[in-house]
Parts: sequence; C-alpha cells; structure tokens
Amino acid sequence: MENGNSLTNGHSNTNQLSELADKSLFISDSFVDGAWISTERQFDVFNPATDEKISSVASLDRDDFIKAIKSAHVAQKKYYKSTTAPARGALLRRWYELIMENKRDLATILCLENGKTFAEAEGEVVYAASFISWFADESARSYGDTIPSSSPNTFIYTVRQPVGVCGIITPWNFPAAMITRKVAPALAAGCSVVIKPPSETPHSCLAFVKLAVQAGIPANCIQVCTTKDREAATELATNPLISKISFTGSTNVGKMLAKLATGTLKKVSLELGGNAPFIVFDDANLDIAVEAAMICKFRCTGQTCVTANRLLVQKTILPKFTAALVAKVNALTVGSGFDTTVTQGPLVNKSAVAKIHEHVTDAIARGATLETGGKPLDRPGCFFAPTVLSGVTTSMLVASEETFGPLAPIFAFETEEEAVQLANDTEFGLAGYLFSRDASRVYRVAERLECGMIGVNTGKISASETPFGGVKQSGYGREGSMYGLEEYQVLKAVTVGGLDR
Ligand code: SIN
Repeated sequence: MENGNSLTNGHSNTNQLSELADKSLFISDSFVDGAWISTERQFDVFNPATDEKISSVASLDRDDFIKAIKSAHVAQKKYYKSTTAPARGALLRRWYELIMENKRDLATILCLENGKTFAEAEGEVVYAASFISWFADESARSYGDTIPSSSPNTFIYTVRQPVGVCGIITPWNFPAAMITRKVAPALAAGCSVVIKPPSETPHSCLAFVKLAVQAGIPANCIQVCTTKDREAATELATNPLISKISFTGSTNVGKMLAKLATGTLKKVSLELGGNAPFIVFDDANLDIAVEAAMICKFRCTGQTCVTANRLLVQKTILPKFTAALVAKVNALTVGSGFDTTVTQGPLVNKSAVAKIHEHVTDAIARGATLETGGKPLDRPGCFFAPTVLSGVTTSMLVASEETFGPLAPIFAFETEEEAVQLANDTEFGLAGYLFSRDASRVYRVAERLECGMIGVNTGKISASETPFGGVKQSGYGREGSMYGLEEYQVLKAVTVGGLDR
C-alpha cells in the first residue's frame, strides 16, 4: 500500500500477446492502397504499465500519405456509386458483429498499448462498436428536403452527398472509439478515409481496420498511415484530394491543422481540450455526486477530455464531500490493467506523469491541501498516485490547464452565481457537470454553462446517440448522434425550373 492506494505488479507483453485467440489481429504494418505495408523506418510502441517495448511499427513518409490519399480518392467515387445507403449500413453492421466476436482480443491489444484496465478496455471496445452500430442504422436515415419555390413552375429539393476523402487523426486515450466515432459516419455517408492513428497506440486501429476489410468494406476506402513523422501527417490537412479533416486531440494541434486546412478550404471538425467544471450544490444527493465524480474523474486514469478537471463544491458540504471522495480514491488499486484487482491503470507516458506532478506541486506551493496521493509511484511504468487536493484556487495551474491525469482538485464556492462564474472562467467549453435536486436550478445552470455537453446528476455523458463536441477553444463539429453523419456530407440544393404544371 502507498498513500492509501494499493499497488499490484506489472504483467509482461509477451504473455498477453500469446493469449490472443486470433494472433493475426496484432499488426505492425500500415494499410495503404489495399495492402499491408512495412517500412525501413519504424517507431517503437511501449506498454505504459511496464515500460517494456511492445513492437516496432511502420513509420510512413509524405509520399506514402500521398499514395494512400490518391488511392482513397479513386476508391471513394466507386464506393459511393456502387452502394446504396442501406448496403453501406449492412457493411457496417457486419463490421460491428466482427468486433463484438473479437471483443476479448481487441481489449487485450487496447489494454496492452494504452494501459487502461482490462474491464475499461472491454468497455471501450463495446463503446467503439456502438458507433458502428449507430451509423449502420443512420446510414439509411439521411433525408433531404423539398422546398416551396418563389419562382413559378419550379421545384427545389436537397440531397445529402458524401464530402469525399476524409483525413482522420485520432488520440491515444481512446485508441478504438475515436477511430469508429469518425470512420463509421464517414463510411455510412459514402466517404473514404485515410486514418493517422496515434503513435502511442496504433495497434487497436490496425486490428479494427483488419476487421473492417474482413466485413467487406472496400479495402481502398479505409487506409491507415501509421507514422511518427508529424510533418508527413500534415499531408492530410493540405492535400487537395482530401475534402474533410476530423481531429481529436490538443487545442494547439487542432488550431494548426485548421490553419493548414484553410489553404484548400476543407470541411473541419475539431474535438479539442477541455477543462470541465463539476459543480456540486448543497441540495445534491451526495452519494450520487461522489460516485459520479469517481467515474468521471478516474475513467481512463483521468485521461479523457471530458474528465472533471475542476470540482466546484458548495462550502456547506465541503468537508462531507471531500471525506467521501478521499475514502473512495484511497480504495482504488493501481497497477497493470491486466490484473483483475486493479481499478486504475498507468498514465500514457513519462511526460504525462511529469505534467500531473507539476500541477500538484504548483497547487501545494500556492496553498492547496494534499488530501491523498500527490506523487509518482516508484516502480516501472508510468504511474501517479490518485490524488485529491482541497483548497484549490484560480491562481493555480490546475484551474486553467487540462491536467489529463488522476488528480481531483476541489474548489469551494458559496453561491450559485459564483459557481457559474468559476465554471465559465476558462477558455475551454467541452463538458460540464452539475449536481442538484432543484429542477429550476438544473435548468438555469445548464443554460448558463458555456459547454457543448452537460451532465446533470451523472458523470457519464458519452454515448453513440448523444452529440459529442464543444464550444470555445474546445473546438467545433459534433460526433455521434443524428448530427454526426452531417459532418461527412455536403448538402446539395437542386432547383428544377421550367416545369409544366
Ligand atoms: C475523449 O476523451 O477524447 C473522448 C471521451 C469520450 O468519448 O467519452
């Protein structure tokens, strides 16, 4: 035991990989122009729970990206012309089924490269598959309009058509779900995709894509360019054959991609950083609020962009809330995700550990109280003790920056007005949470929070049917839901004149 959080030993990669039922799902090649390709240049992937090297993966250059884009461009035209919307839905349905059939292997690969607990990894595979299932159905629900014309003998209608080839750039925190949340609507709409998965966690993407091709999705419509060469990957934002770019990741990289994409006026969706407020009013059900804080804060070891980055708690319930949260945090078990007793995995790498340490050290130096945790764990892997700080104020780094780790900083507030002001005092606007049993307050505060998504009396807001996306510096565009398909379509208006009525 250390700082109240129990610890377990790491698990080796080789054991895990040898247990895959279908070993061919563990792939280190890229998938370009319908073929699995390797390169002399490679980058290494590590298990964040043990620091062990897992693999060396093909690192593609700009020419490879150009080849993939050209091939995806030709393929897209053919794919859209030769499929009906329900037929595309059927392909996606088959892909969904194959993922569910291979759930255990996919979760093993995900757990190995990302570090999240095996239960969470399985949960992510199901979450990832849910987007495919959702868009398999949405594919056929892509309606246009008929519009009364102001001109005589004229009829106007609209149709939704695929935008074209889509560049997809995804993060390591959800190596599977962030792929499917973008790729499923793109394929449903009749687009083709060129994916650049994260270099920390490329294997989940490659396994998912293998199953997509096995499901019958035309090989050239789904291409994967693994690389560590960031310059080469910018081809997705500049190449004129790419019509749309969808990115999940940091605000800085998102802005850079948006700037590059302006050169060819691509359609752009950006799901960027967050700094979610988690407001607990004194009329809330405290058990629900604490449970939600645990789910929301410590999911994926705090490495989600919708994590509760700032816990704002009304002064009257501060001691009770803090004590209940600390007790739950102390009950977490930290270690390798493959250990079934573990409830909290590692961070992605050493710089993630350094960042959370910096936030904790800064807060304590400026007067915050360390309730539990507070330091990296002295063992192999990228571990930081789950941490609670109280007495946190807006002068501290945790108030303005996304920590992206297992740190719950508690701020105190007195009035509803103050809570809303504190919550909105950030450049970000992705998720926000509030806990109250007062219906009027719920409507009032949900209305006033400057966020794209609000959780009321729940810490779980992510689902395939819910529009996911932010405002302010958290980006634009919506993923999942009935709106997610539109991001991969263009609306065409057809005016038919000269009709004999
Ligand atoms: C993210 O952190 O980027 C996504 C989280 C989610 O889908 O819930």
